[in-house]
Amino acid sequence: MIQINNLKQHNEPFFAQYEAKFQSFLRNGYYILGDEVRSFETAFSNYIGTQHCISVANGTDAIELTVRALQLPQGSEVITAANAAMYSTISILNSGLKPKFVDISADGYNLDIEKVLAALTATTKAVIFTHLYGRGTNLDSLKKELSKKKVFLIEDCAQAHGCRIGDKKMGSFGDIATFSFYPTKNLGALGDGGAITTNNSKLFQNVIELRQYGWGKKYHLKEMVGRNSRLDELQAAFLNTKLPHLDKFNARRIEIAETYLKGITNSKLLIRKWNNDGSYVAHLFPVEVKDPALRPLLAAYLGENKIGCDIHYPVPDYKQTPIKTLFESTRLENTEDRCNKVLTIPCYPELENENVKYIIEKINKW
Ligand SMILES: Cc1ncc(COP(=O)(O)O)c(C=O)c1O
Repeated sequence: MIQINNLKQHNEPFFAQYEAKFQSFLRNGYYILGDEVRSFETAFSNYIGTQHCISVANGTDAIELTVRALQLPQGSEVITAANAAMYSTISILNSGLKPKFVDISADGYNLDIEKVLAALTATTKAVIFTHLYGRGTNLDSLKKELSKKKVFLIEDCAQAHGCRIGDKKMGSFGDIATFSFYPTKNLGALGDGGAITTNNSKLFQNVIELRQYGWGKKYHLKEMVGRNSRLDELQAAFLNTKLPHLDKFNARRIEIAETYLKGITNSKLLIRKWNNDGSYVAHLFPVEVKDPALRPLLAAYLGENKIGCDIHYPVPDYKQTPIKTLFESTRLENTEDRCNKVLTIPCYPELENENVKYIIEKINKW
């Protein structure tokens, strides 16, 4: 079976380094917010190109603590896409704010910037922009327009580690950005992990407090009621081991994506193009069936041929059971189109060329 991901294979080359890290972790005696966490935060902010990085327990906490750090008035609206598996929506709702869903672009997977600008109202205080599948969007113009209106821009980069426009990385365009280090991510831990990057010192300070109970200093809450959301020292050690290899992993992902783009010619499918300039880091490789009725047939066919696949993501956020009654009138054409048609095929650094070739052959035969 060619799996959709193979985490053991991905981590195997680092086992000896992980074991050495674990030995020194055991003997060090500092198990929470120690040297590994600090050195990862420094290395990751340098890598992304921001002044600050604060690590947290996972990518969803990263978004929620970021939203809370903005200290928005109750009832504020936060614009987000509805095709990214609820992560941003959960964070908005758990912060006591209102999600406002805006459609993605007609020819892609990320929020339509024109539609975001048209949707702004006096109560809109922030926009969460997800660089889905590792397809980055240049947010310079959006940031400029939002700044004029004092609306914050948050980037969700959980699928876009190392993705860049020229030399500028995703995670350095907005006021603040969030990352997940879930094991399958382009930079993945061996458990949960997350981070926030920013150049804004006030937001940095707020997140530092929020991730540790709201403490300004030990045992003294300063201004906000926080929670415990710290990156584990051991996960930070694993991430420190892998970060120097991230660009190499991304290069291999992109190579596989380019091979698929050239090789897959089945006319029942659509593959959306990208610029091969580092702005797509191939976190996921979606194909689209032109007719949604064909998707279950393609998934079954791939399964019969021992090729893993998955749907990222099948349900628009506003149709999810716990919230759908609040959004009965919301219908976003491009979002629904993609949710009904996308199917992800394997794309990860360790996938062998012969497997890529086999997948292309099988898909073209279908
Ligand atoms: C786009 C996006 N945002 C947020 C998250 C949440 O991250 P985590 O699973 O670490 O909470 C994920 C992935 O899981 C994601 O893909």
